[in-house]
Formats: sequence, C-alpha cells, structure tokens
Amino acid sequence: MINWPNRLQLANLPTPLTRLQRFPDLPAGVEVWVKRDELTGLEVSGNKIRKLEFCLAEALDQGCDTVITCGGLQSNHCRATAIMGARLGLKVHLLLRGEPPAEYQGNLLLDKLSGAEVTILPSSEWPDHEEVVRKLQDDYARAGSKAYYIPVGASDEVGLWGYIAACAELKEDYQRLGLEPDAIVTATGSGGTQAGLLVGSELLDLPGKVVAFNVSDDAAYFDRKIRQDVTLWQQRYKTGFDADSLEITTVEGYLGPGYGMAGPEVFATIARLAATEGLFLDPVYTGKAFHGMVTELNQGASGPLNGARQIVFLHTGGLFGVFPQNQQFNL
Ligand SMILES: Cc1ncc(COP(=O)(O)O)c(C=O)c1O
Repeated sequence: MINWPNRLQLANLPTPLTRLQRFPDLPAGVEVWVKRDELTGLEVSGNKIRKLEFCLAEALDQGCDTVITCGGLQSNHCRATAIMGARLGLKVHLLLRGEPPAEYQGNLLLDKLSGAEVTILPSSEWPDHEEVVRKLQDDYARAGSKAYYIPVGASDEVGLWGYIAACAELKEDYQRLGLEPDAIVTATGSGGTQAGLLVGSELLDLPGKVVAFNVSDDAAYFDRKIRQDVTLWQQRYKTGFDADSLEITTVEGYLGPGYGMAGPEVFATIARLAATEGLFLDPVYTGKAFHGMVTELNQGASGPLNGARQIVFLHTGGLFGVFPQNQQFNL
C-alpha cells in the first residue's frame, strides 16, 4: 500500500519512451530506450518538475507564499522552481553558488526573467548555505511572509516521491511496449532521482536495476545520502519497505574535471547523438551519464551494465545548460 501525499499536476505526463534508432556507438544487440523527461515541459523541462509537484503541493498546503531553494549558478532545479513560482503566484528566492557572472545566460537568464530574487553565495561560503536559508526564512517571517524551503535539487523525503511516481508511469510504459529492461540509467547529482527510482522500483516491482552515474561527489556520498533520505521518507510516510535491501549502484569514473565541467569526449558524444537522433543532452548531467553508459556497454566483461541487452536511459533534461558552454563544441 502506497500512502501518496498531495500532488500538483505541473508536468506534461506521461513522457514518451522511445528507442534509439541510429546512434552508432552501441554494441550490436543492445537496445537503448530513452525516457523523455526532457519533455516534461518547455521552460520547466526535466526531472525537477516531477519532484516539485510534491514539494510545491506541500508548500501550498502549509500556507506558504514564498519558496526558497538553492543550487549552482546554472541550476536546472532553481530555474524550474523560479518559473513554477511565477505560474503559481509564489515568490521565489534563489540562493546560488558561484561568483557573480559577467552576463545572464542559460538557466540564470530564465531565473531572472521569471522574477526570482537571486542571492549569489561564493563557493567558499557554500558549506553554510543552510544557515543563510534559515536567516532568510526569519527575515520573511518578520515581514509577514511564510517561506517554504526546498533543499538542493529537491532531494529530500518529499521530492523523493517524484521518481516513485515516475516508476508507476514506467511500469505502464513497459507493459504497453512489451519491455523488460535489464537496467535504467540516470545521472545523479543531488541523489533524489536515483533514490526515487530505487524506492519506486522496489515498491512497484519494476524490472531492471537502477544504475546511476555521478556528476558530483562520489559513490560513498550517494550511498549515504540516499539511505538517509529513504529513512526520513519511511519515518514520515510510514510506507513499509526495507531500506537496507536497497542495492545502490553508483558508477564512478565519468565525473571528468569536476561538477559542471566535462572533457571533450562528452561534448563529442552530445554532438553525435544530436546529429544521429535529434536528441540533445547537456554537459553537466545527461551528457556525462550517457557517455558513461555507452563506454560501459562497450567495455564488455565486468562492470554494472555487463550483459545488459535492453536499457532505459532516463533523459533528465538540462538543455539550457548547453548554451553557457557553447565554446566547448568543436564546430
Ligand atoms: C538535467 C539534470 N539531470 C540530472 C540531475 C540529477 O538529478 P538529482 O539531483 O535528482 O540527482 C539534475 C539535477 O541535479 C539535472 O538538472
């Protein structure tokens, strides 16, 4: 029995599940299907909107008129929150990590156009960002507002519902298309998508193991973070489930120079997929995970995708992150 919490309908669902037809770098006999979550919307595209359906429902249920959230300067999650705030009549205050940019580009441009208030915090002060959030919440309270806080990437026990619900959608996709995938592959950045897929797969008995490619931190971090969030989720929603049984597979080795930075091989893969399938990935999240998946598939023996014949790649969006890095494509 799943005790679903309140949910807003914000995303265009269900998203399509389509098979790659011409991408040349897959080994013979391997099918890759793409769950097209970049199509959850145009401006509010990507995975974050699935999580926000639950987080923003809770914000409204609690009578909040303001939402505070955090992320990198080019955060897709912050952009989705800013735009949804404008649609729902909620004030949005973003706390972004980085240095003030020379120009407003990509996601940050959309944040500003959506009327979000933006505070930029230098990376050196980021470890204390939750203290800054608490101070902002106090400031809003003194001014007569109530501010709901969504942590980085909406990866907490509330946002976790987004990809549990996506698993219910995937189950219908698999039945309709007659699929029984060996794996579902995703990028993992703040852990909530991976956690939701793991819990959803377990609760709904989905075939295929969840294989995540980290685009920040390391496997140990995601192991800890996911177990922590799942425990909080269980305590809060009382949904029976053995958190210890989770098989958390986070594949290291494809982070490249660091979060937000990719090597030339990732840009080459993005360009090749765009040219052969008309599908666009981004260099921060989906490009790294897709490149990692293709590399692992071609490695043959051992590895998390060893023997996989049918794979679902979760396209989590991120297109606006391509534009600030346009110089990296060898065009
Ligand atoms: C485009 C895109 N893909 C994947 C992710 C990773 O999802 P999560 O933060 O739930 O790990 C994010 C956000 O961090 C994202 O913006």
